[in-house]
Amino acid sequence: MSQIPIAPGSCPATCPPSGIFQQFRQPTGWMGWGIGQLMALKNRSRSEWVIDLIQVQPEDRILEVGFGSGADIRRASALATHGFVAGIDHSAVMVQQARNRNAKAIQAQRVDLQCAAADAIPYADANFDKIFAINVAHFWTQPLEVLAELRRVLKPGGLIALAIQPRTPNATEETSQQTGEFLVNLLNTADFEQVRLHTQFIPPVSVVCVLGIKN
Ligand SMILES: C[S@@+](CC[C@H](N)C(=O)[O-])C[C@H]1O[C@@H](n2cnc3c(N)ncnc32)[C@H](O)[C@@H]1O
Repeated sequence: MSQIPIAPGSCPATCPPSGIFQQFRQPTGWMGWGIGQLMALKNRSRSEWVIDLIQVQPEDRILEVGFGSGADIRRASALATHGFVAGIDHSAVMVQQARNRNAKAIQAQRVDLQCAAADAIPYADANFDKIFAINVAHFWTQPLEVLAELRRVLKPGGLIALAIQPRTPNATEETSQQTGEFLVNLLNTADFEQVRLHTQFIPPVSVVCVLGIKN
């Protein structure tokens, strides 16, 4: 496996920092709201595959980073029936949409959603059994700083899962493969253990998901 360098913009799935891609990076306004609804519809198979990989247990305390529409918060909380699911997203529009989608669970205090950035997570140390982020890590300009923050809120022995399906123009299977290598290098460099890569073909190109354990 080759070593893809960890530097701002070096993730092979990095999107251009303008146009419609900006709306996926941080949805705003009515267009951002619409993109959230579209993601809830279109990303289902990808999300179900990733959530299967993290094997949610009834008592799990889970954090999703960059929850977008909140559809995966709902999926995870349906499985963590006696646990707790938290989420952060830096888009105020997505926080509102995800709160609407999870209103009952929020009311029951089984879900908590906050507007926050991935490098400043508003939860205490060693709080979660599992953390996942789907199509978010390629937006991080300082990924090692974010990983240090995710380690802080993860319990010792806790699981992290970073999944990406490259959506850049002209993305190919090679882009997915290189993105997987980048994520493996990222988790190893951030001192996670038992780092492993899973790949699943879901059109238009394969999704990669890298899992690691906090020692
Ligand atoms: C492409 S969307 C993916 C949404 C969802 N995970 C999915 O797969 O449908 C990326 C989401 O991550 C959020 N996001 C991107 N970078 C972030 C950061 N540094 N901190 C918090 N949220 C971030 C965006 O606001 C957006 O809602």
